[in-house]
Amino acid sequence: MDRYLCLFLFLFVTLFVEMRGGRDECMASNRCGDQGPLIQFPFRLQDQPRDCGYKGFELSCTENNQTMLDLPVPVKLLVKKIAYKSREIIVQDPDNCLARQLRKLSLAASPFHFKSERDVTLFNCSSDKTEPYSPYQSIPCLSIPGNPVYAVESSTLVRYLDLSSCRRLYNASVPYDGGFIFNGSAFSLKWSHSKICRLKKSKSTEPETECIKGVSKKIIVTGVIFGFLLLVLVIVMLYRVYSSNKVERENKVKVKKFLEDYEALKPSRYSYADVKRITSQFKDKLGQGGYGIVYKGKLSDEVFVAVKILNNSQGNGEEFINEVATMGTIHHVNIVRLVGFCADRFKRALIYEYLPNESLEKFIFSRAVKNYSLSWKKLQEIAIGIATGIEYLHQGCDQRILHFDIKPHNILLDHNFNPKISDFGLAKLCSKEQSAVSMTVVRGTMGYIAPEVLSRNFGNVSYKSDVYSFGMLLLEMVGGRKNIDVSVESTSQVYFPEWIYNHLDIGQELHSRIEEEGDVAIAKKLAIVGLSCIQWCPVDRPSMKIVVQMLEGEGDKLTMPPNPFASTVPTKTNLSKPRTVFQQELAIISELE
Ligand SMILES: *[C@@H]1O[C@H](CO)[C@@H](O)[C@H](O)[C@H]1NC(C)=O
Ligand SMILES: *[C@@H]1O[C@H](CO)[C@@H](O)[C@H](O)[C@H]1NC(C)=O
Ligand SMILES: *[C@@H]1O[C@H](CO)[C@@H](O)[C@H](O)[C@H]1NC(C)=O
Ligand SMILES: *[C@@H]1O[C@H](CO)[C@@H](O)[C@H](O)[C@H]1NC(C)=O
Repeated sequence: MDRYLCLFLFLFVTLFVEMRGGRDECMASNRCGDQGPLIQFPFRLQDQPRDCGYKGFELSCTENNQTMLDLPVPVKLLVKKIAYKSREIIVQDPDNCLARQLRKLSLAASPFHFKSERDVTLFNCSSDKTEPYSPYQSIPCLSIPGNPVYAVESSTLVRYLDLSSCRRLYNASVPYDGGFIFNGSAFSLKWSHSKICRLKKSKSTEPETECIKGVSKKIIVTGVIFGFLLLVLVIVMLYRVYSSNKVERENKVKVKKFLEDYEALKPSRYSYADVKRITSQFKDKLGQGGYGIVYKGKLSDEVFVAVKILNNSQGNGEEFINEVATMGTIHHVNIVRLVGFCADRFKRALIYEYLPNESLEKFIFSRAVKNYSLSWKKLQEIAIGIATGIEYLHQGCDQRILHFDIKPHNILLDHNFNPKISDFGLAKLCSKEQSAVSMTVVRGTMGYIAPEVLSRNFGNVSYKSDVYSFGMLLLEMVGGRKNIDVSVESTSQVYFPEWIYNHLDIGQELHSRIEEEGDVAIAKKLAIVGLSCIQWCPVDRPSMKIVVQMLEGEGDKLTMPPNPFASTVPTKTNLSKPRTVFQQELAIISELE
């Protein structure tokens, strides 16, 4: 507000100074001759512009350099002195016989009045009335021999006078200063338009008044401008009040919107009829698996969803509870958002945000198809995204969430190819302090399952099991193929992780699908991180936090991890068992395919 007030005052002062300045012709001191009284506003000389003075205050100079006041009635008076401070003008009759002008002299139409006056009646007599204590005042300048003229104060009881020899002439007001002034004596006239003038200290003996020039017009202009500025000020203040209200309103809207969004973030429950409507009677099928069928759906014109209808036959609904319980509470850019769920009698469905690019699986295993090929930079970004998402699951929530089914198929890609972890059907919640998780059945997908999940002989099941799965996923991203692929020509390449370990171990570079500078380094980095993650013993695997750091850092600082395939290290014969587990896995996979 202060800002506006200052601006306002500035404008006002500017205006005022502007109005005081200019019009030198009015400001210049004027006099008639060298001795005449100073002529200033509200007086003006007749040859000055009209707006220099006030109406009725016109003065003129006589040939003798005398100052003359021209009253509206054709009466002229000589000006002896103008006292601006006391608003008084000392005048006298130029012909030394004021009485002669008295009949015409009416001050009603002028701004002046006598400082002191008396009402009198004038008589033309034929005999002398000048006797001691006579009420008759002689007016010599009107008298002619034999016909003296007298004035009698009107307050005198005229009817008691002997007027036999006299004729009444007229009534008039006469200036009075202890006696009637009928001759050329000076007398005082006063004016009362004082409010339009301001007094100014002056070096000269006479106090000067300083007034706004052209008052009537200027005052209106000032008033209008001042009023306008005042209006502006008021508008500004009102606007301030309004806009502060507006801010309040906007805040309210913001909070409301937040609450709505927040509500929307929380997975909401839908009926089966809703699910049918959302999927338009299950029109658009996106995929199918052991868990059920996924359909594309539409919540609103803009919001598309993927609706997973869970198989009724499947289990006790644990998958459903897992998903809703874990995904419903978490929000992360690298985790698919659960928008809603449906639990209508035996019909169960999960509604996720829809990701147009489907799963990572399609991209890394379809490298032959040019359109699907991802650059090494993009692959690195995707790897970091997945790792960040898993780290969040492990560390970012109140309870630690173990996914147990990290694999390319469960990594969905949005339109920018940002990875999002999905499918929490096998997830388990545990406290962060808990170092081991009990598990009655094997969870996961062959090829990605950590050895300790398959058999407790290899250690405790923990968050490090997800690290293992991630390592496998990473190596598949590097290889652009399934880790176990019996269709490859060379048997040494059937198990890709082992092949790549040996490859890197003897200092060879990776040269597959290299297109740009830096690709070799990225490929090597991803491979080394992947191999670190698939270390046989859970304790040897890095945490996801370290994995993220490794992926984000420079690849050349990473050292080759120990050989995860311990059986190839002859000295550690006691670890030969794992090899058989792999072979078992391989056998199972081969059977499935
Ligand atoms: C009137 O005053 C002017 C100078 O102000 C002077 O030159 C002139 O002689 C004066 N006239 C008379 C009649 O005094
Ligand atoms: C007074 O009366 C006489 C005679 O009637 C006349 O001549 C004279 O002019 C009058 N004086 C005035 C001032 O009227
Ligand atoms: C003059 O004044 C007297 C008394 O005040 C009054 O009686 C008389 O009519 C007046 N005469 C004129 C001409 O106004
Ligand atoms: C006017 O008359 C008074 C007496 O009534 C006298 O004292 C004064 O000197 C006269 N003034 C002039 C300028 O004649």
